[in-house]
Amino acid sequence: MAQASAPSGLRFHSQIDYAGTMKISSHAVARMLGAWQAGPGPAHQRLSDRLRLLVLDGRLPLGAALPSERDLATALGTSRTTVGAAYRTLVEHGYLATRARARATVRLPHATPSERPAGTESATINLSFAAPPAPVEILHAAYAAALEQLPRYFERHGYDRYGTAELREAVADWYRRRGLPTAPDHIMITSGAQHALGLLARTLLSPRDKVLIDHPTYPHAIRTFAEARARLLPVAVGTCGWDTAQLQAAGRAAQLAYLIPDFHNPTGMCMSASVRRRLRLACPTIIDETMTDLALDGARPEPCAVHMPTAVSVGSVSKSIWGGLRTGWIRATPSLLERVEQARPATDLGTPVVEQLATAVLLNGRQTERPDALQHLRSHRDALTEALAEYLPDVHAPRPAGGVTLWGMFPEPVSSRLAAIAPDYGVTIAAGPRFGVGGAFERHIRLPYTLPSSQLTEAIRRLAQARLALTQGATGTHTPAPVA
Ligand SMILES: Cc1ncc(COP(=O)(O)O)c(C=O)c1O
Repeated sequence: MAQASAPSGLRFHSQIDYAGTMKISSHAVARMLGAWQAGPGPAHQRLSDRLRLLVLDGRLPLGAALPSERDLATALGTSRTTVGAAYRTLVEHGYLATRARARATVRLPHATPSERPAGTESATINLSFAAPPAPVEILHAAYAAALEQLPRYFERHGYDRYGTAELREAVADWYRRRGLPTAPDHIMITSGAQHALGLLARTLLSPRDKVLIDHPTYPHAIRTFAEARARLLPVAVGTCGWDTAQLQAAGRAAQLAYLIPDFHNPTGMCMSASVRRRLRLACPTIIDETMTDLALDGARPEPCAVHMPTAVSVGSVSKSIWGGLRTGWIRATPSLLERVEQARPATDLGTPVVEQLATAVLLNGRQTERPDALQHLRSHRDALTEALAEYLPDVHAPRPAGGVTLWGMFPEPVSSRLAAIAPDYGVTIAAGPRFGVGGAFERHIRLPYTLPSSQLTEAIRRLAQARLALTQGATGTHTPAPVA
C-alpha cells in the first residue's frame, strides 16, 4: 500500500544575501544528505562523498554557500571535527572554495579530459532524456500546412496570451474525444506543459504554501514549486500505485496538488479507474496529462476531470509528437485562465504562431495517437527489459503501462554514484534522487525507452560495466546531465 512520506512537509531552505550568494541552511543540507551515516569507512569520508554527489547532481548549486562547520555538525548530530575533515577533503578535490571569514562555496574541479575504459569509445548514449525523436514526414507536412495558414495572422499584432483559435479548438476537441465536454474558452495555449506548470505555480501559490506531489515525480515540477517557495508534501506512488486515503489526507493539508496519473514520470504507472473516480481532493489539483496519448497496453485513461470537475489539466504534444514544438496547454475555468493571463506577461507574451498552427494540424489529424509510434515504443520497452535481464538481472523494473520510462530499482543505494561515473562508460543517466525530495530514491534510476533498441541494449551493457567499476572502488566526477 502507498504511504505518505514526510507529512510535515519539506522546504528548500535557502536565502540570497546582498552579494547575490545563495546560502543553504544546515537543515536543508541535512535533509539532502539523508542516511549518510550508513556504510563502511570513516564518517568524514562518507560525509564528503555524499556532499560531493550532491554537488555533482546539482542539488547543491554552484556558488551556493554551505553552512558553517559548527551549524552543520549540530544539524547532523556529529562532531565538528567530522564536518571539518569532510569540508577539507572537498576543498582539496576542488568541490569547495574557501575564503577567510566567509562560508565555503560550492564549485567544481577544473575539467580534466576523461579517459574512457577500453571498449566504450563510441559516442555517449543519452538516457537522461525521456523524449522521442520527431516523426519527420508528419512533422514536415504539419509545418508546411501551418506556413500556408500563417499569412492570415500577418495583419494582427501576433501577441496572443490565450493562443490561436485553431489550436484552442483542436485541444478542446482532444478532450471531447476523451469524453470530457470542453469549449475553446477553457483552453490556454502555452509553450509546453512545463511552461503551463510555471504559469499555474505563479498564479496559484504564495510562499510557504504546501504542494502535494507524487513521490517520485517529474523533477522540473519539483523545481518549479521550490522556486515558488512552496513546501512539498510528497505522497508515495508505490508499487500498487496511488492510495486514495493518503492523497485525500494530504490534500486537506495542502494548498495545491500536482499529480501525473497517466503514465506517470518516472514510473510509467497509470492511476486505476477506481482511484480516479474517488479522487476529489480538498485543494486545487493540477493533473499532468503530458503522457496520456502513450497508452501501450490498453485504451487511453479517462480524464481525471470527468470525476473532478475542478481539476486543472496541463498537457502537451512533446511526448506524443516532438518536444521541439514547445506547444502545450492548460484546461481550466475561464476565470482561472483570466488570472493566468494576467500573470503571464511577467514571463512571456504568447506562444509562437507557426508552432501553434502546426500543432492544430497534428491534433486534428489525430497524429498524437499513431499506432505505429506506440508499436515502436512497445518494442523498445521489450528491448530495454531484455537488456536489463541480461546485463543487470538484479535490477527490479516493473513493466510500465505506458509513457516512455521504466523505474528500475537496484538492490543497493548506488544511483547518484552511478550517474556520476556512467559517462566514463559512454552513457548518461538521471539518478533517482532527482525525482524526489529529501535524498529519497538512491536505489532507483529512470530508464527511458525512446532510443532505438540497439542503442538501449548497448546503453545497459555500458551501465553494467559502470556499476562493476563502482563495486571495484572506482568513483566518477561527472556533473548531472539535463533531464526531460
Ligand atoms: C510529466 C511531465 N510533465 C511535463 C513535462 C514538460 O513537457 P513539455 O516539453 O511540454 O514542456 C514533461 C517532460 O518531460 C513531463 O515528463
